[in-house]
Amino acid sequence: MRVLIAGCGDLGTETGLRLAAAGHSVVGIRRTTTRLPAPLIGVRGDLAAGHLDELPDDVEVVIYAAAADQRTEQAYLGAYVAGPRHVLDALARVRARPRRLLLVSSTAVYGVTDGSWVDEDTPARPATVTGEILLAAEMAVLERGPEPSAVRLSGIYGPGRTRLIDQVRTGRAVAPDPPVYANRIHRDDAADALVHLATRREAPHPCYLGVDDAPVDRGEVLRFLAEELGLPEPPTGPDRRTRGGNKRCRNDRLVATGLTLTYPTYREGYRAVLAGDGVRHP
Ligand SMILES: NC(=O)c1ccc[n+]([C@@H]2O[C@H](COP(=O)([O-])OP(=O)(O)OC[C@H]3O[C@@H](n4cnc5c(N)ncnc54)[C@H](OP(=O)(O)O)[C@@H]3O)[C@@H](O)[C@H]2O)c1
Repeated sequence: MRVLIAGCGDLGTETGLRLAAAGHSVVGIRRTTTRLPAPLIGVRGDLAAGHLDELPDDVEVVIYAAAADQRTEQAYLGAYVAGPRHVLDALARVRARPRRLLLVSSTAVYGVTDGSWVDEDTPARPATVTGEILLAAEMAVLERGPEPSAVRLSGIYGPGRTRLIDQVRTGRAVAPDPPVYANRIHRDDAADALVHLATRREAPHPCYLGVDDAPVDRGEVLRFLAEELGLPEPPTGPDRRTRGGNKRCRNDRLVATGLTLTYPTYREGYRAVLAGDGVRHP
């Protein structure tokens, strides 16, 4: 099967390599195609501007995984709203008829700040403009896509994505008091989820939360990392973040599709990161 990954960065490349290892032909769109490893086939293009080289006409599944370059309204509109439209237009021009479209979205569409539980049935009421744009992007894709699905990922961590580890190492980490619930997913589990949803026979549900099994207080993760690194426990203090909310996301719907997480909690995942497993794709 031919799979098109639009916005083929760290997550897209890992997803593409896993699909290729399973025997699929993978085409990746990005502006700097020289960064794509074999056997991924690069197509140069600017998704936001709609300047795309010709796409193959036999694409069966599209995975849209571009990330906005900046946290501005304009960058988000380009990457998440205009980009998917340009890809579908470009596929229509070559008369390709993909049968499935997965949009990588974000749990930022939920503006929940009271630590309550969230699942796909929780009304999405974004607290930020960028969250609103992501939600608009989802709606556009759901209207237009064949077998469309929005996969709402929480914070991705993994090889080379070491923000929390760096905070602990440099003594900048502060465990929030009162506690703040955060959700995460290891990059490789996010890639496995996309491979699974792209390749399983059943049409995907229009929406999945892509998170691990363990929404936890961020302080718990910081204390765990400090212990693993043999460093003192981070101090507690008021939450200094300006975004990210305070919520506990459930992954029941995704897990019910038969997906098995390699890193069901931050413990397995961060131990692998600390052990240096895997590489971050440029
Ligand atoms: N980071 C998180 O914690 C998080 C959380 C929730 C959801 N997500 C979502 O997860 C997805 C993948 O994230 P990631 O970590 O793999 O990001 P990434 O490594 O930054 O990859 C995104 C890729 O998109 C490409 N891109 C950006 N703008 C483009 C444009 N105008 N035209 C063509 N390509 C463009 C970039 O390649 P070029 O520069 O070569 O064009 C880049 O390699 C994104 O949809 C992101 O919103 C991320």
